[in-house]
Amino acid sequence: MSLDPVLDRIDADLDAALDRLLALLRIPSISTDPAYKDACQTAAEWLADDLKSLGIDAAVRPTTGHPMVVGHIDGPGPHVLFYGHYDVQPVDPLDLWDRDPFDPAIEDTPDGKVIRARGSSDDKGQLMTFVEACRAWKAVHGSLPCKITFFFEGEEESGSPSLIPFLEENAEELKADLVLICDTGLFESRVPAIVTRLRGLLGEEITLTGPNKDLHSGMFGGAAMNPIRVLSSILANLHGPDGTIQVPHFYDGVPELEPPIKAQWDALGFDHARFLGDVGLSDPAGESQHTALEMIWSRPTAEINGIIGGYTGDGFKTVLPSQASAKISFRLVGQQDPHEIRKHFRAWVEAQLPPDVSVRFDEHGASPAGQMETDHPAFEAARAVLSAEWGEEAAFTGCGGSIPIAGYFKTILGMESMLVGWGKDDDQIHSPNEKYDLESFHKGTRSWARILDAIATR
Ligand code: BES
Ligand code: ZN
Repeated sequence: MSLDPVLDRIDADLDAALDRLLALLRIPSISTDPAYKDACQTAAEWLADDLKSLGIDAAVRPTTGHPMVVGHIDGPGPHVLFYGHYDVQPVDPLDLWDRDPFDPAIEDTPDGKVIRARGSSDDKGQLMTFVEACRAWKAVHGSLPCKITFFFEGEEESGSPSLIPFLEENAEELKADLVLICDTGLFESRVPAIVTRLRGLLGEEITLTGPNKDLHSGMFGGAAMNPIRVLSSILANLHGPDGTIQVPHFYDGVPELEPPIKAQWDALGFDHARFLGDVGLSDPAGESQHTALEMIWSRPTAEINGIIGGYTGDGFKTVLPSQASAKISFRLVGQQDPHEIRKHFRAWVEAQLPPDVSVRFDEHGASPAGQMETDHPAFEAARAVLSAEWGEEAAFTGCGGSIPIAGYFKTILGMESMLVGWGKDDDQIHSPNEKYDLESFHKGTRSWARILDAIATR
């Protein structure tokens, strides 16, 4: 089965493919907010129907949370499982959007055409590049070059609570030779990238309680301990002056970067100044002895994602609050054990509490870092065809974000994952005005057609 007519078909069908993506983007499938439960169901049904229209045996599969979509189609080549997520992040702050996040549009910008909507890049646009590549194969040849299982999740942005039980209960059905994941981006928005290491993620929320009710800060201030004062001191102690994280044993299991990998990364010529310059910054804020690229790809971090406490409304109120809380996440690398770190973090917090302040901990996910086996033949096959499509030598890269499912595919189902994606650094994923370049969508679809061909004929 030849590839060229499939690529031509993708070019000719681009407008119709965009219409389909826009329809999916109109469904507000925000997984973390219960108000959008029906929308998540609708998005899952839309996808299952679209797969069925390609002759794929697909169904919406209920879970105790949002449903999965699973589809199967037979083919001659190896058996691949494709993973993407149809859920999206919340849209707030809504007033910073230039249009309704769920009223998608194709916009002309100085850098080319973009698809503007929540989920356009993370991950509906990316997911649809794979589906559109399959549609073109089917249209031209009547069949697909590989045996394919489609697996779409609706809870990725909210910690995937149903995922592990679903993988365990459906292990036989979901087993394949290789997993393909489309949820990452191009290197420096230009170079096709195969992500070979992903950071892990540990989330903790701490709530400190001081007095048993909010107090007048003149009447009680000075005598009563203020939990915001304790919280800010703890948060300030999280990092040392050189950017290192101060929780005892935090660095257990953090490996030195292997010299050949470091040489490979140095050869990528990452533009550190532009990376920070693009977001209005100039000075890397992490561990001072590492480069910004290492800080993102190979070093662990601790970030405070939110602080709540006291009076934050308009005007002013002299209150001494009863409670203060913070949401903290750690990105993990190497062999760092999220459960051990949670234990050490909690002990470290408790040791800093004065007599009248108590703490409650709430956990928000714990997944270790992951490393891909690049000696699987699909990696070199993909590297060659990606270089051809994008006109740049494809690179093996790291990724600052976390995609815990890649680890679960390995530990639960024994499958290797290959992560490729077409997002750009300025896509504003998780932020207002998210977009996906038309180029990402179009070349991404062509890239999947080429990868399927390369995997099938290797
Ligand atoms: N698509 C992202 C992962 C990503 C981020 C890839 C940046 C490439 C660059 C994914 O949807 C995501 O945001 N994951 C979360 C983790 C999840 C468990 C909430 C993350 O990395 O914060
Ligand atoms: Zn994503």
